[in-house]
Amino acid sequence: DEAYVVGHALAKHTLSRLRSQETEQVGFRKGLVKLGRIAGYEIIDGAMETEFVSITTPLAETTGERVKGLDDVVIINVLRAATPFVEGLLKAFPRAKQGVISAGRDEEAGMDEDGEFPITVDYVKLPEISEDDTVIVADPMLATGSTMVTVLDHVLADANPERTLVLSAVAAPPGLVRVGERFPEVDLLTVAVDERLDDDGFIVPGLGDAGDRAFR
Ligand code: PRP
Repeated sequence: DEAYVVGHALAKHTLSRLRSQETEQVGFRKGLVKLGRIAGYEIIDGAMETEFVSITTPLAETTGERVKGLDDVVIINVLRAATPFVEGLLKAFPRAKQGVISAGRDEEAGMDEDGEFPITVDYVKLPEISEDDTVIVADPMLATGSTMVTVLDHVLADANPERTLVLSAVAAPPGLVRVGERFPEVDLLTVAVDERLDDDGFIVPGLGDAGDRAFR
């Protein structure tokens, strides 16, 4: 349950622009879409197998390769901030089924002594998840991990997919630890592991409130 880092130079480049407070809304949204696309390609490269297939070009028969399991992908969009991120992922997995979960921290309640937030879940709509599926749960921010644990409780309640990946842009160590401990079978993938959480549970240095920066 170690965290894998999306090491592509363009992912780091794009994340750096997302972090900058000078990046305004349109640039921020576009950056999240781009990051989703790159992460999607990295998932294909790192987690999916290929097989040889016979193909015929206009000139000859030859052997080609195809990625296995591309049709068996489920992407879970954790509202709101994940929406542009998922848009990018869909460019890598155009045939993916999609689930939507609205889950958010109850900021007024604040963090408890375990560093966890109460989570409000407003809406859950999931496709059927089969044993052949690769499930990608996308949320740009993994802070305390409270949201993700709640989301995974829903997603994996009645499902036993081939593999489950949690994809974030920025993750903080407490969130990685919490999700890793509760769901050891889940792979954690992020573009960056940041230093820490502040007293309000925000990732530092992070990129601010991704939902607000993309939507407000
Ligand atoms: C943010 C973020 C994650 C969550 C991470 O969402 O998009 O869902 O917080 O924090 P956690 O790991 O401590 O649970 P937020 O609650 O701000 O909702 P939003 O996406 O609608 O802005």
